[in-house]
Amino acid sequence: MNNIQFFDTTLRDGEQTPGVNFNTKEKVQIAKQLEKWGIDTIEAGFPIASVGDFEAVKAIAENAEKMTVAGLARCQKADIDRAHEALQNAKHPQIHVFLATSPIHMEFKLKMTPDEVIASIKEHVSYAKTKFDKVQFSPEDATRTDKQFLLKAVQTAIDAGATIINVPDTVGYSNPTEYGGLFKFLIENIQSDEEIIFSSHCHDDLGMATANALAAIENGARRVEGTINGIGERAGNTALEEVALALYIRKDFYEAQSNITLNETKRTSDLVSRLSGVAVPRNKAIIGANAYAHESGIHQDGVLKNPDTYEIITPSLVGVNENSLPLGKLSGRHAFATKMDALGYQLTEDELKDAFKRFKSLADKKKQVTEEDLIALMVGQSQEC
Ligand code: KIV
Ligand code: ZN
Repeated sequence: MNNIQFFDTTLRDGEQTPGVNFNTKEKVQIAKQLEKWGIDTIEAGFPIASVGDFEAVKAIAENAEKMTVAGLARCQKADIDRAHEALQNAKHPQIHVFLATSPIHMEFKLKMTPDEVIASIKEHVSYAKTKFDKVQFSPEDATRTDKQFLLKAVQTAIDAGATIINVPDTVGYSNPTEYGGLFKFLIENIQSDEEIIFSSHCHDDLGMATANALAAIENGARRVEGTINGIGERAGNTALEEVALALYIRKDFYEAQSNITLNETKRTSDLVSRLSGVAVPRNKAIIGANAYAHESGIHQDGVLKNPDTYEIITPSLVGVNENSLPLGKLSGRHAFATKMDALGYQLTEDELKDAFKRFKSLADKKKQVTEEDLIALMVGQSQEC
């Protein structure tokens, strides 16, 4: 079994979600919960970006016990110095240096030639290595970078002392076949005496962030970057809870494990949702309110006989209390009878048949029938009698 390290960037890339702004106290609270969840490395922020970010990175560095605390830096000495200052009290510090390598970023954003980019990677990764044992380098917009140039940039970073190479799909442009292939290509072609950890970093613009991260793992990535609930720039980042569950539920396929404490998943998601103000869509995998709800009669009947018929994840595995069988027009008699029994109604066969008929006629008019509706249905019945 390969061990997959989890790198959480909820407080850095996740905070780039429009409208999200955590204060230091909230960041420390989230960081502590992430540590409990089992995150190996937290990207606590971008220390040079603002005094607030610097203070938050410093506070998290002082509070983290086991997990590594990383700070982001551009290829600029001032950024690296500021990250070093913020992380000086961390038990396990790490720096994350990045520079764009795609033609469009080099020409229009950086206004640098490819040779200048290579020279800057060499200079700044070497500089970072004088201050940190653990240096990560990211060629930003890697998936729109010429492959041979990407290899040159990555090899330059490795030669300068980087031991973690992160491959960002910055604009969510890649797909699983292509992204997985990129890891295979880089891993097969780099040269290093030291062990190099390859890491995935995906955005969800085409809805493939989780699939791409898993394809990277299939092709040799040993670390995955992402955020809780998938929050982040534009369509967001890889949702780490999805990767954690995919690895666990499909360990037969991925042959990988992580340090994630799965039953802390819901609590972690709820905290990030509450403090970020970003609601989790009801149908979101793993943590959405409907993820363990079964509406149709056929499904409800199956789940009542054996939950495994329609549930690949037992709710308690991720810290959700129990599944739910919401009653609506597609619900069957089995779920209805179970609900009536739970509400304390001991109905004879004829009473049940009658009540079910009235329930169906009500359900045709309402999206969902609540417990209150069911009680009212029975009260109406006793009044009629
Ligand atoms: O998406 C991206 O390219 C990033 C880098 C800073 C790693 O977030
Ligand atoms: Zn990103």
